[in-house]
Amino acid sequence: MSTIPAMRTTRASKRGRDVRRRGVARGGAARAASPAPLSVVILAAGEGKRMQSPLPKVLQPLAGRPLLKHVIDTARTLAPAAIQVVYGHGGEQVPEALKDEPVSWTLQAERLGTGHAVLQAMQHIPDGHLVLVLYGDVPLIGRAQLAELVALAGPRQLALLTMKADDPQGYGRIVRSARGLVQRIVEQQDATPAQRAIHECNTGVLACPAQLLRGWLARLKPDNSAAEYYLTDVIAMAVRHKLAVRPLIAPQVGEVLGVNDKAQLAQLEAVWRARCARALLLAGVTLADPARLDVRGELAHGTDVFIDVNVVLEGKVVLGDRVRVGAGCVIRNSEIGADTQVFPHCVIDGALIGPGCNIGPFARVRPSATLGSEVHIGNFVEVKNSRLGAGSKANHLAYVGDAQVGERVNFGAGTIVANYDGANKHATLIEDDVHTGSNSVLVAPITVGAGATIAAGSTVTHAVPAGKLTVARARQATIEGWHRPVKNKK
Ligand code: UD1
Ligand code: CA
Repeated sequence: MSTIPAMRTTRASKRGRDVRRRGVARGGAARAASPAPLSVVILAAGEGKRMQSPLPKVLQPLAGRPLLKHVIDTARTLAPAAIQVVYGHGGEQVPEALKDEPVSWTLQAERLGTGHAVLQAMQHIPDGHLVLVLYGDVPLIGRAQLAELVALAGPRQLALLTMKADDPQGYGRIVRSARGLVQRIVEQQDATPAQRAIHECNTGVLACPAQLLRGWLARLKPDNSAAEYYLTDVIAMAVRHKLAVRPLIAPQVGEVLGVNDKAQLAQLEAVWRARCARALLLAGVTLADPARLDVRGELAHGTDVFIDVNVVLEGKVVLGDRVRVGAGCVIRNSEIGADTQVFPHCVIDGALIGPGCNIGPFARVRPSATLGSEVHIGNFVEVKNSRLGAGSKANHLAYVGDAQVGERVNFGAGTIVANYDGANKHATLIEDDVHTGSNSVLVAPITVGAGATIAAGSTVTHAVPAGKLTVARARQATIEGWHRPVKNKK
């Protein structure tokens, strides 16, 4: 069984670990001391007007997680001394939504620009730290890239992550000298036509010694078209102070794209999708179409798993060996045993499904459903908070709720376990080898003894004895000599 925590088991991240090790070793040699402790600053105070949404931008979900949560999760993999998140727009909504995260929150009361935002966090960061700045709206930044960038920075070196964008629209442009050295960053709205033609862009991510950064930030001036304190202006300052600015061009542009509007959000969702699909394919999962699977959580899987098109997997999902998931299924926080087939259009949530089962098509398996081996749950069947023993079957149009069901039980089409009296839910016990006829209603609380048969159309309200046929419906009668009424003549 291998786990794909979506973005972190790719080959890239393995490379990242190597790079980090190399980086630490190199730093150790140069500085003869252990590398500076790392403080991560994540900028998350912006409003995100272009999202056209009352939800703060950094809380907009990507693959089911807020943008900011992606950045925090990735930052944590670097094991920094601290993570400082700068928040502002949306007020306490942002820290409230992510209150369980192990980060420190700093309020940027007025949004005066990215430089001003970093400065707010600097009050909590000691001079001896290395600062890594991340943007809350650049969510798919990879661990490997960050580790490499951190390794590039040093006491007299600022490391800057750049990208070559096909469409540089909206990004800050990297201005290099004739010799190819980075000189400064020019924001789109301040750029000349010639600068706008530059395709190398600022990702927003940089690593810099805290002491130097603090000094530069204090000297920023809002002398630009947006009248903001731009973090990007520290690059020109570093150059002026004869510090080495070390650019690192991100090889995977998808990782460093920013999200400013819903179109970019959809674009990154596609990047995420492709990344998950690739990791799954390389791990041996067969996907009918890598572009039509959404993994919004963690997927653990066995061998020879097949997933058809338009499947959504959310939370923690475990698919055993040879599991087949049909088209259009949504599976959330569930475990599915080996050789089980899930036919198209099922919704499975919070369920534990045994091996060799057949589920669907069009089945709904709800929280706390536990199915033993070789259970069949057919079309338009709903199972909730119930345990079904091995070999039990509900093949058509049934509801089983709050029931303990034995082995080899057969629910006829249309069987309903009536678990709710309008105020309270009640439990049902159905022992092994029970057969219920079509359209029977079992009114809970009720017990059905082993091997009992309930006749079709019965509504049973008392305990049903084992091994017998119980009929609870009016007897069929035929009225001799009856005539259909005829219309009166006027
Ligand atoms: C910024 C960069 C640009 C880069 C791009 C990459 C600056 C001046 N520009 O532009 O060079 O190419 O990101 O995506 O840095 N924020 C705050 N407080 C503020 C302003 C912004 O916390 O006062 C946060 C935002 O929430 C966001 C991040 O900083 O997470 C970037 O701000 P945004 O306004 O999106 O900058 P861009 O115009 O995209
Ligand atoms: Ca942005």
